[in-house]
Amino acid sequence: MTDRYAVIGNPVAHSKSPWIHGEFARATRQDIEYVRIEAPLDGFERTVEEFRRANGKGANVTLPFKEAASRYSTELSAGARLAGAVNTLAFGPSGVRGENTDGSGLLRDLAVNLGFAVRGQTVLVLGAGGAVRGIVGPLAESGAGKIVLANRTVSKAHELVQRMAFPVLEACGYEALDGRSFDLILNATSTGLHGEALVVPPSIFRKGALAYELVYGRVTAFLEMAQAHGAATADGIGMLVEQAADSFRLWRGVRPETASVIAALRKA
Ligand code: ATR
Repeated sequence: MTDRYAVIGNPVAHSKSPWIHGEFARATRQDIEYVRIEAPLDGFERTVEEFRRANGKGANVTLPFKEAASRYSTELSAGARLAGAVNTLAFGPSGVRGENTDGSGLLRDLAVNLGFAVRGQTVLVLGAGGAVRGIVGPLAESGAGKIVLANRTVSKAHELVQRMAFPVLEACGYEALDGRSFDLILNATSTGLHGEALVVPPSIFRKGALAYELVYGRVTAFLEMAQAHGAATADGIGMLVEQAADSFRLWRGVRPETASVIAALRKA
């Protein structure tokens, strides 16, 4: 019987994961099936149990179930534990392993695809929601010189910094950024998704900085602002494909080539 995988979310109709994993399977000659499953908002566990009974071997988990997936796991990777969020489940005979490949995917996109070395750099992360939790640990562990978490609701940034407890981490509000500049600026707020403006001081874009939008496939207000202030820009397509490749490797033991998949998604 063919091993089955899925992306579970709500909504999930827009997910590119089935296409990406289909490409990976073809390239690595793995016989797998990968589907989309929309779980009811109150029915994540039920949905996963049903999928496991139908020969499900693993799943990607997306909004709003990453915390639920962490609770569902019987064993967590260090990164998933720190994030309190799981985007990759692997079902084995002895239980459910939960991992988080969002941060590793981002770092690989930065290092390999964009040629940006995080070590020693000053990093600004905008936002303090779910998207931030998976990326802060890997950024800190890659040797960033300083990571400032800035959020509209300052208390949320402070809570996150306290919980993660990396010496290079610092929290603040957007006004406190005025006059400060960074080498790497990541937009992890949901403003890009909703087409909302993001009011941040233009000083944040240091000359030669890289501005990275976690949302993909559109020129957001953040990217427009970064471009207007001379920063290089990137959207989240590379991260999307790299986190998928890390999930694929966890399940299948082989990491697929990603460049052609990223190029094809960009063209589409
Ligand atoms: P998720 O977990 O899906 O990332 P979330 O927890 O609601 O979603 O987080 C959304 C992030 O985008 C938050 O950091 C939010 O800021 P607040 O914590 O102050 O709400 C940020 N965000 C959303 N809309 C925003 C806006 N118009 N301007 C600035 N930040 C915004």
